[in-house]
Amino acid sequence: MNPEMAKKEIKDIRQTARTALKEVREMVSEMRGAKLSDEIIRVKQILKAAEIEFKLEGTTELQDTPLLVETVLSMCLKEAVTNIVKHSGADCCNIVIEELQTGVTITVQDNGVGLSHRSEYIKGNGLQGMKERLEFVNGSLDIKSTDGTTLYIRVPNAIKNNG
Ligand SMILES: Nc1ncnc2c1ncn2[C@@H]1O[C@H](COP(=O)(O)OP(=O)(O)OP(=O)(O)O)[C@@H](O)[C@H]1O
Ligand SMILES: [Mg+2]
Repeated sequence: MNPEMAKKEIKDIRQTARTALKEVREMVSEMRGAKLSDEIIRVKQILKAAEIEFKLEGTTELQDTPLLVETVLSMCLKEAVTNIVKHSGADCCNIVIEELQTGVTITVQDNGVGLSHRSEYIKGNGLQGMKERLEFVNGSLDIKSTDGTTLYIRVPNAIKNNG
């Protein structure tokens, strides 16, 4: 390859890299709305409007969790709280968020009527969708329904797991 062609090639590569970087920046900034700390602000407003007391324990600023995983967690939280407002009749909601070395766990508890039947699970898309999204990031959803409803949301730290 002559020097002129090599120069052109380098220029092309630089241009491609710049375009790719710009696209990544745009993607990330579009996803900022799905940060857990933003979602918690919305959760507070929704529960206040529904006159449901809200208690939060733990951190909303995740340090070591990929944005994709954080986005999935935010979507879960939104659906869980929407369900509490729509179905539970609760007057109290507790959320605990823990980021450990092994991953993130979120517990969402209400003191409402509870899921009366296991079959209710498949009635809507919300809980099923939550489970599928969590499984997509190697996480899991468990539901307990005594004294209201408790959702146990877990996602592992993907880097640790693959290493
Ligand atoms: N916190 C809760 N308390 C009491 N019942 C609940 C609670 N969350 C869910 N349920 C029951 O489980 C069912 C399924 O929930 P799911 O979120 O999957 O569907 P949905 O909320 O009815 O509809 P969608 O989420 O698709 O709009 C609900 O219809 C409701 O009967
Ligand atoms: Mg729902």
